[in-house]
Amino acid sequence: MLKIAVCVSGGGTNLQAIIDGIDSGIITNTQISVVISNNKNAFALERAKKHGIEAVCICPKDYESREAFNQDFLRQLDSYEVDLVVLAGFLVVIPEQMIAKYRNRIINIHPSLIPSFCGTGYYGLKVHEGVLARGVRVTGATVHFVDEGTDTGPIILQKAVEVDPSDTPETLQRRVMEQAEWKIMPKAIDLIANNRVNVVEGKVIIS
Ligand code: GAR
Repeated sequence: MLKIAVCVSGGGTNLQAIIDGIDSGIITNTQISVVISNNKNAFALERAKKHGIEAVCICPKDYESREAFNQDFLRQLDSYEVDLVVLAGFLVVIPEQMIAKYRNRIINIHPSLIPSFCGTGYYGLKVHEGVLARGVRVTGATVHFVDEGTDTGPIILQKAVEVDPSDTPETLQRRVMEQAEWKIMPKAIDLIANNRVNVVEGKVIIS
């Protein structure tokens, strides 16, 4: 059984897709040990509690320094002894110490086809604003392992979504979530839970 921690900052629709995926059998051999938020008001915390999943808030503002937050975040995460950390809309920079300790055991969902519209400054709606400003016809979402760079780790799954000329950032965000994010995130977790994902020379091989 793959034990996972899901880290969230906001609405938690990707968390919901994971919970629903486990309930419906789209995700097998997996249990959510804990949901961690950096934001006390994240609706994702309510979603976790409603499903009887342990939910904790670890907020940078409650610590004297970033270093103190980073250390306690890692200490608390370690205490759950999870096999995989899932960043599902988690808008906190992951400390390097944690990336090294959980090498190829942290995955992230990003709302574009990496390497387009990713890196520092590209998150949430800003991604879709960028896509529309550039007149891009096809966008999508990516699930990837987390390394020391921003959105640079090995790519696990991607799914394309067509941009409509009438799209606003909000309508495009919603469609990318529905058609891509909520599908590839559960699928990636299921592949990992069934030992089908390997990283070889910086690239993902799916068996
Ligand atoms: C999602 O669209 C996710 O791809 C994005 O934040 C949103 C979270 O929504 N993540 C990033 O932009 C990371 N760079 P949710 O809380 O409803 O799952």
